Amino acid sequence: MDLRPIGVFDSGLGGLTCVKRLRELMPGEDIIYLGDTGRVPYGGRSRETIIKYARQDIAFLRRHDIKAVVAACGTVSTNGLEEIAGDYAIPVLGVAAAAARAAVNATRSGRIGLIGTKASIRSTAYDEKILRLMPEARIVKKACPLFVPIVEDGRIGDGEPVLELVAHQYLEDLRRAGVDTLILGCTHYPLIAGTIGRLMGPGVTLIDPGAEIAALLRRRLEEEDALADRDRGAYSYFVTDSAEDFAQTASLFLGFRVEGAVSRVSLEDR
Ligand code: DGL
Repeated sequence: MDLRPIGVFDSGLGGLTCVKRLRELMPGEDIIYLGDTGRVPYGGRSRETIIKYARQDIAFLRRHDIKAVVAACGTVSTNGLEEIAGDYAIPVLGVAAAAARAAVNATRSGRIGLIGTKASIRSTAYDEKILRLMPEARIVKKACPLFVPIVEDGRIGDGEPVLELVAHQYLEDLRRAGVDTLILGCTHYPLIAGTIGRLMGPGVTLIDPGAEIAALLRRRLEEEDALADRDRGAYSYFVTDSAEDFAQTASLFLGFRVEGAVSRVSLEDR
């Protein structure tokens, strides 16, 4: 058994949808969460900047004695994470590989949709992972940059007028293309899965990257006999902007109350 915490990071609050899934599958784990709320969103930035930020995020988490890192950010996972993961002595896992595999397992027609930030859609990471597993797959991609600010602003209820309008426009091409599986390629999107699922229709399976990475990490920790076998782990949260704003919105993302401390930190010099 390894009782060291798991480090989880995202550009902002979206990665908390992964924390929710991690807690469901591994309630005994301690989790240290870093949300780079002072620099969110990452999704419109260059690959070089995203890699630089990811390195700073991981360096911060590693100041705590952690046993693994989860990049709970689709943008980081598709923009260089695998190149830098080998630089660390502990596992550094992104959400893309697990979500790609789940999509291949779920599709019946081979037509797989992917929605994400501009940087995730610009990247070919998902295409490569899916086509390696299913060479005949057809991948239909759509960048949905307005979803992140809509979610961060808490406008996530099914039927919210702004969300409805934007989602309708973004999803139209995917609906027309007849995808039967849709990867929610950004960790903010599970919060609006109700609206996305309704607009896509009942025949379309939505893939939540948080659920997939939690299952993958659990398997890995089990194999290494490193699962924390206790009833309930402790959580601590770090942000790079206002801690008060974070605590208010975070419980919405987590589905449970933020009980651990929330601290503001600076990453620039790391
Ligand atoms: N949650 C991030 C992702 O999964 C957010 C996007 C952003 O910072 O633009 O891609």
